[in-house]
Amino acid sequence: MQSEISRQEIVDGLCAAQASIAPKYLYDDLGSRLFELITHIPEYYPPRIELALMTRHADEIRAAAGTGGALIDLGAGNCRKARALFPTLRPRRYVAVDISAEFLDRALASMHAAFPEIGMFAVGADLSAPVALPAVLDGMRRVFFFAGSSIGNLQPQGALALLKRIRLQCAGRGGLLIGVDLVKDEAALHAAYNDDLGLTAAFNRNVLNHVNALLHSDFRLSDWRHRAIYDARLSRIEMHLDAVRDLAVAWPGGRRRFAAGESIHTENSYKYRLEDFTAMMAQAGFRDIRAWTDERAWFAVCYGGA
Ligand code: AVJ
Repeated sequence: MQSEISRQEIVDGLCAAQASIAPKYLYDDLGSRLFELITHIPEYYPPRIELALMTRHADEIRAAAGTGGALIDLGAGNCRKARALFPTLRPRRYVAVDISAEFLDRALASMHAAFPEIGMFAVGADLSAPVALPAVLDGMRRVFFFAGSSIGNLQPQGALALLKRIRLQCAGRGGLLIGVDLVKDEAALHAAYNDDLGLTAAFNRNVLNHVNALLHSDFRLSDWRHRAIYDARLSRIEMHLDAVRDLAVAWPGGRRRFAAGESIHTENSYKYRLEDFTAMMAQAGFRDIRAWTDERAWFAVCYGGA
């Protein structure tokens, strides 16, 4: 498993002037389950629109991406989105990559039972480095799948670098099918990250449980409040945890004070204008780029050949 869990990285983030915790730490086993629940809430539109687009445009997606190759699912989670693609792309092999290997193993077990003819592989990894692909993919046509606008977690320059890495790994006859959340009315964005049930708040605050487990720190969840705001200038949602009172957090070898209202930045979720995103794909070297979007242009599914 190559996913980098680094105590030093966490400590550095906590001690920075603007404290931060990298968003990959949102996905411990409970966090992955909470995110899965978020995909079902009414305000969180991306998964529904993405699935509708992939269903509505299945024939065009098949024509662009081809069938019978290897499907490599980056940030697979519960694998449900890829599963919905199987009838369209009919992959011979399926590689599910996710930061939470435990969550992935459970998902893959049920997938394999439903599709015994597809060779399936789980890879526990984050996407900060090229994914180590199983040797059985050597010589196969590779279609990467990066769903849900997870690309939005990266700053645009990091997103471009990731797209370039992916393109190198599917060079030849492969490509990338990717979902991207689009710039839209601020109220809709705000609601998607401030749902009435409080699931996004729970998902955000749970990162402190994960950090406590990794760092043996003493965060008390009741001291922290969820905050998600849209920064229109940077076209990104920022998630923060705000300290509700003056407090200190300690771990073996270190300590950090937070004043009431001071925050820990836990996630960015960039929103793109469609033409900017397809231009970035082109800049990464993808060709014959296609994009499908909904009536309101809230979300897009794009394909680029390598
Ligand atoms: C999985 C990164 C795409 O940014 O919308 C959902 C994560 N954060 N609600 C997103 C998330 C808060 C999600 N991504």
